[in-house]
Amino acid sequence: VPLAILFYLFLPTLIHRSINPDLSVGFVPTMGALHAGHVSLAQLARSQCDKVVASIFVNPAQFAPTEDLAKYPRTEDQDVAMLGAAGCDVVFIPNVEEMYPAGIVLNVKDQRGTFVEVTGMSHQMEGSIRPHFFRGVATVVSKLFNIAQPTRAYFGQKDAQQCAVVRTMVRDMFVPTTIVVGETVREADGLAMSSRNRYLAPAERAVAPVLYRGLQAGAALYNEGRGVVSRAEIIAAAAAVVQEEKGATLQYLSLADPFSLAELDKIGANGAIFSGAVLVGKTRIIDNLLLGLS
Ligand code: PAJ
Repeated sequence: VPLAILFYLFLPTLIHRSINPDLSVGFVPTMGALHAGHVSLAQLARSQCDKVVASIFVNPAQFAPTEDLAKYPRTEDQDVAMLGAAGCDVVFIPNVEEMYPAGIVLNVKDQRGTFVEVTGMSHQMEGSIRPHFFRGVATVVSKLFNIAQPTRAYFGQKDAQQCAVVRTMVRDMFVPTTIVVGETVREADGLAMSSRNRYLAPAERAVAPVLYRGLQAGAALYNEGRGVVSRAEIIAAAAAVVQEEKGATLQYLSLADPFSLAELDKIGANGAIFSGAVLVGKTRIIDNLLLGLS
């Protein structure tokens, strides 16, 4: 049995929508270098949809000139095997020219062509460190949705702000796709799985779970003193854990509304995304927990 067959063209036809419009299509967009977190999304799609399409595309528009586009890990053969084993029917692996007919340059000022930006949600939290990032994500996700035309698309809670941005884009642009969010898959010591974890040297890998431990400390404080613990106390509890670890530099901590991403003073009925980022060596680690929903 071949590991998987790559279909580069005519994707909508290949997924048989034209033959049977009642078939549901699940779509899992990725940048490859797959791990168990990606696989869990493919499996979730498999369990909920008739056909499952995944994409592997390292999207230049979401990288700044200073970032790791050129050295982003590429493990295509292994990725395709993993997606096949998870039950994907189609893996879409376009090239940059196909996805950006107007061309793409890393310097945003010189950009041509069409871009999608979700204003008000793209420049806080991750966007405060990576101001170009969510414009690139919203743009490529729009393109991929138009190609795959999925009934449901699967995103990981690990990237909570990405989920909120994509949900808003889908709502605002009337995209006929339901966004499904899968839980964050973690290593045994709590570190959220990430394609970039392979950049970590052994000593850095040992330090990396500190962000998760910090977020857990803040969450524990919130859960113990629900209603009386302040925003400042929750954030201070997490910051204290991270700052004790000399090998990690805290970039930000955020306690934000899960829909608007506005910073919260009080956690209300919508709960909150408690998120943060640390730098371990040259590698950024991001993570988040949902507070107040149980
Ligand atoms: P990538 O980082 O490859 O992630 C693809 C999907 O896997 C995203 O929805 C991400 O949230 C999810 N994911 C990553 N790590 C996870 C984990 N530990 N547990 C659960 N899910 C996890 O996110 C992107 O690619 C890109 O921005 C993309 C959406 C493909 C647009 O280019």
